[in-house]
Amino acid sequence: MEQRSPDLNRYSGDRVASLIREAELALRGRASEAARLEAEMLLGHVMGWSRAGILIHSQERVTGKDRGRFRRLVGLRTRGHPLQYLTHTQEFWSLEFYVNRHTLIPRPESEILVEEGARRVTGSRPIVIDVGTGCGNLAVALARELPGARIYAVDISGEALAVARRNARSHGVGEQIRFLKGDQFAPLAGLGLEGKVDLLVANPPYISTAELAGLPVDVRDHEPRQALVAGRTGEEFYSPLIEGAGRFLKAGGSLIMELGLGRAAGVRRRLEASPAFGKILTVKDGAGIERVAIGARSSRDAG
Ligand SMILES: C[S@@+](CC[C@H](N)C(=O)[O-])C[C@H]1O[C@@H](n2cnc3c(N)ncnc32)[C@H](O)[C@@H]1O
Repeated sequence: MEQRSPDLNRYSGDRVASLIREAELALRGRASEAARLEAEMLLGHVMGWSRAGILIHSQERVTGKDRGRFRRLVGLRTRGHPLQYLTHTQEFWSLEFYVNRHTLIPRPESEILVEEGARRVTGSRPIVIDVGTGCGNLAVALARELPGARIYAVDISGEALAVARRNARSHGVGEQIRFLKGDQFAPLAGLGLEGKVDLLVANPPYISTAELAGLPVDVRDHEPRQALVAGRTGEEFYSPLIEGAGRFLKAGGSLIMELGLGRAAGVRRRLEASPAFGKILTVKDGAGIERVAIGARSSRDAG
């Protein structure tokens, strides 16, 4: 049997390994499947360590102040606060994004918008619009993929835009993106972009008021309502986006919108009803859900 030093026994409650165990048990209590991973991420956040750092330092003592901070974060997590709002980070498109309670946490399926958008754009100086930019994940990822692009990123939330600006700066694309506050296309008025835009991406709010109650607590009670809820039907944003895309896209330009669960047929009908769009398709995510609708702008006369 391993001999533990008296000193280690005496202080074991202060050490990294036992703090992780303590937190893992508390997090398991709320049925978190990734309790250990979450415990490690929270302590790593407090200590400024990677997960490998947790292993390396496993027998070190954690000071009272850091212990207190860690336990406070674990407590918040057990009460349903999303891990990403506690660590202020979420990976998207292999980039680290700062997030807070004013921004939706980027979801992996939204990477489809970046992938489909980047491959549809031709030309060295494309113009891109991102409506509802949130923490700026789509705009920043597209700026990195399309270094010559000029991107206009709109959001109704000034707090979200502050986060998006921060992310654009930290990923070295601050000069490429202009952030604008306002309702959908309103802040783009007067910029002379009508008929000149190559790509319009949007991950709009798409939850209906009735669906909100059924969302997981982490989402329903913590992510910004105006990022989630569209209105009574959940489809309120799609018609204005299709109409705006008809005005702003140049011939051959693409509109790419994320779809909520079960929204594909309704959105497809709206796209088909618009004379501005010829080719229409939907793309499934990894779970087989039709997640993205794409419309190609037909000739300008068609609008
Ligand atoms: C679903 S989130 C998408 C965030 C981010 N683009 C992403 O893909 O993760 C929707 C965003 O739209 C913004 N929004 C809601 N209503 C808006 C409106 N009327 N005009 C502009 N942005 C709006 C919200 O503040 C939120 O940041």
